[in-house]
Amino acid sequence: MTLITSPAFIPEARLKSAGSFAALFGNDNPLSLEIGCGIGDFVVQIASRHPDRNYIAIDIFNQGCRQTCSRIDRSGLTNILMMRIEARYLMHTYLKAESLQAIYVNCPDPWPKKRQRKRRLLNHDFLNLALYCLQDNGELNFCTDFIDYGESAAELLYQDTRFENSVSTPYTHDLSDYPISKYMQRFLDLGQSIFLCRYRKKSGLAIDPPSLSKGFRLRWPEEKH
Ligand SMILES: C[S@@+](CC[C@H](N)C(=O)[O-])C[C@H]1O[C@@H](n2cnc3c(N)ncnc32)[C@H](O)[C@@H]1O
Repeated sequence: MTLITSPAFIPEARLKSAGSFAALFGNDNPLSLEIGCGIGDFVVQIASRHPDRNYIAIDIFNQGCRQTCSRIDRSGLTNILMMRIEARYLMHTYLKAESLQAIYVNCPDPWPKKRQRKRRLLNHDFLNLALYCLQDNGELNFCTDFIDYGESAAELLYQDTRFENSVSTPYTHDLSDYPISKYMQRFLDLGQSIFLCRYRKKSGLAIDPPSLSKGFRLRWPEEKH
């Protein structure tokens, strides 16, 4: 495991002692979360478009965290922090109700085999957690290159009356105002479509704190920083 020394990298213990992301960023700007940021090219693009918003990029893969941190450091952006942490664990343990303006999930692990599909991130439990963390009108953006995952995610979101669709169809292939990661570009270059779902949490909902379901890895050995 490579040691990450970037100032953008936040070990869990540091978040714990700071108490909040606002304390780590040094301001109260609206907060967005990118889950599974890979090499960080999406988050750097979106954060440079919105310097007045803060972004947390997370991934469970050390190498991806290292590459994302290098990209953040090279960009000079101060509105992105990176954590190596599991998405549901972070949201459940450290994010308060209605603390997020947006969530981005781009090309999550597809778990293509039928028997693996229960491992997919986007399911009913995740939507409950997302709704709990999102502010009124907060965005849930999800995209995938997997037809079956795109269709089932769109169906789940479209049927959930707690969300409003931001576009006119359950999913769209129109990426004109959406930053494209290298990973997404690879599929576009092969002539494959990206399925993008863009939804917003309806306002005025009371969402109970969801319980944390088991079955995914929560913790890694602490990294020295
Ligand atoms: C297929 S890659 C896509 C990377 C990036 N979003 C992109 O579009 O280039 C999926 C990423 O999600 C990360 N990941 C998978 N499950 C995760 C979870 N539960 N929490 C945080 N990151 C996760 C993986 O380590 C991997 O880097």
